[in-house]
Amino acid sequence: MIKISPSVLASDFSRLGEEAVKMEKSGADMLHLDVMDGHFVPNISFGAPVITPLRNKTSLFFDVHLMISDPLRYARDFAKAGADMITFHFESDSDPSATLDEIHSLGCKAGIAIKPATPAEAVIPFIDRADMILVMTVEPGFGGQSFMEDTMPKVRLIRDAALKAGKDLDIQVDGGINDKTACTAAKAGANVLVAGSAVFRSENPAGTIATLRKNAEVNFVG
Ligand code: DX5
Ligand code: ZN
Repeated sequence: MIKISPSVLASDFSRLGEEAVKMEKSGADMLHLDVMDGHFVPNISFGAPVITPLRNKTSLFFDVHLMISDPLRYARDFAKAGADMITFHFESDSDPSATLDEIHSLGCKAGIAIKPATPAEAVIPFIDRADMILVMTVEPGFGGQSFMEDTMPKVRLIRDAALKAGKDLDIQVDGGINDKTACTAAKAGANVLVAGSAVFRSENPAGTIATLRKNAEVNFVG
């Protein structure tokens, strides 16, 4: 099943609540919340105290992408703030296995993300325990970058490994997703599409979400 997760990084932060409601009304399946600590990535965005009040504004599924050095230490704060899924980076300082267990014990779904230079083989051993694998299609840290098509073979490797294991795994792509790259990513086997600029800079977010979904549905190869 194709899911569209608009990234609030491209939204108007002074009206975050309204922006979240707008995405819910526009047919988004999730809301992607990019947490950056200025250490794991060279940018700072927001943390749990910004997510907590947002939780009262919408019932959208909160897809929290932690671009932080020590996700194991902070997972509890994000669970308390209302995260439904917490995705952390394989390249962070935290032990991936312990972090997966911690997130699950907090009652959240758990995802593992890999940066463009990290091979698919890093996360394939976790396919049975992770709810989602996020293959970054740009270097994490900033919105509005161009999609890196050379990350697509990793998506295919992970999808094939999941199929072989008999697991209906969510594979997310994040960065530079638009009408065209949505097709490319779905063809490679991705079914969860994050889109920041494409959705929030659109005059018609509902139309953009519908087009992204349609393009991914038509091109998806499981
Ligand atoms: C990048 C973030 C992305 C970003 C995507 O570090 O993880 O979620 O917001 O933005 P666009 O869709 O504009 O590339
Ligand atoms: Zn993200």
